[in-house]
Amino acid sequence: ARLVVLVSGAGTNLQALLDACADPAYGAQVVAVGADRSGTGGVERAAKSGLPTFVRRIPDFPSRVEWDASLAEAIAEHEPDLVVSAGFMKILGPRFLAAFGGRTVNTHPALLPSFPGAHAVRDALAYGVKVTGCTVHFVDEGVDTGPVIAQEAVSVGWHDDEDSLHERIKQVERRLIVDVVGRLARDGWTARGRRVSMKCTTC
Ligand code: GRF
Repeated sequence: ARLVVLVSGAGTNLQALLDACADPAYGAQVVAVGADRSGTGGVERAAKSGLPTFVRRIPDFPSRVEWDASLAEAIAEHEPDLVVSAGFMKILGPRFLAAFGGRTVNTHPALLPSFPGAHAVRDALAYGVKVTGCTVHFVDEGVDTGPVIAQEAVSVGWHDDEDSLHERIKQVERRLIVDVVGRLARDGWTARGRRVSMKCTTC
């Protein structure tokens, strides 16, 4: 399966996917990496791997609609089977969703529907939960509201701060996104309403 990965930050989730794709049995390859800002670790990692990259910054466009259309166009050029939002920090709009909705997954560092949005780890710490985690879900028109595909819990330590907790969540997140993308690439999935079940030819 052809993957286009969207990043905004360090790109450690992207790196985990790149490492997994090195094994032909994984069944997917990253064909391009896109970002909403230049100079990100994610784009640098992609460039180092010799992958095509593209950047679409919102300030460069007269409106969000044009940004969304331009991003969708840049992605379409690479003819992805799946789009993976790995730490991409922008809400994908109607033009993108018309083209790639239903085959775009996002990873979020909280157990949705708890703590959606851009500060999930900080919000979980501030609330005082003792267990949080990460979620891989299909992207829909909302903010972190699409059908859940996989989740895993991460305990909050007494001495955790945002960085230490986020780092521990990211370790789980990288494993989860690699597992889900691989199974979607190899086997696909079925969805009854919001319930997603992974088709599995071997289990
Ligand atoms: C991940 O925790 C992602 O869920 C969140 O931002 C982080 C991105 O990490 N939106 P990286 O850029 O993949 O290292």
